[in-house]
Amino acid sequence: MIKAVKDYIRTIKDFPHEGVLFRDVTTLFADPRGFRMAVDQLLSPYAGLDIDKVAGLEARGFILGGAVAHQLSTGFVPVRKKGKLPGRTISQAYTLEYAEAEIEVHDDAFHPGEKVLLVDDLLATGGTAEAGIKLIERLGAQVVGCAFVVDLPDLGGRAKLEAMGMQVHALCA
Ligand code: PRP
Ligand code: ADE
Repeated sequence: MIKAVKDYIRTIKDFPHEGVLFRDVTTLFADPRGFRMAVDQLLSPYAGLDIDKVAGLEARGFILGGAVAHQLSTGFVPVRKKGKLPGRTISQAYTLEYAEAEIEVHDDAFHPGEKVLLVDDLLATGGTAEAGIKLIERLGAQVVGCAFVVDLPDLGGRAKLEAMGMQVHALCA
């Protein structure tokens, strides 16, 4: 049987809280075929486009975003949880499925006119991605696409991002 990206992802019940079905992509990342397939499929709509930077959302977006940036020959910018970046930052608060948080980028990480591809492992409520988009746009850059391995459409993230005018690319639900 030929495996699809979805087949490499396992679901763990009640992590980190009761009632959450946690999509664990470590099993996808650990498999050489699975990881290559996921990275290739994530970047395929953007190959040949004029993209300056990939923005990866902490933490699993770093792993995917770094590989995508390498393949597209772009820069990579980590969008980090509060308090992790050493230089001057701008920050954005957000709510996710089971917590409140704040993310940051260095205030010189993006520049007006730059085209940015946002990458993360999973889209749930869209709160994290929305905050990432706001940070990028506050620095004058343009988000040309948002790419995820998993989309959980029932949680409304895709609808939220599309309502912001974003183009959403996801490999599986
Ligand atoms: C997960 C996931 C996304 C986010 C999606 O990260 O990797 O970044 O949640 O949820 P949302 O669409 O409802 O915002 P998490 O916040 O668990 O952080 P981690 O990757 O650092 O564990
Ligand atoms: N982040 C938010 N919801 C998640 C889920 N169900 N699985 C993995 N990461 C998540």
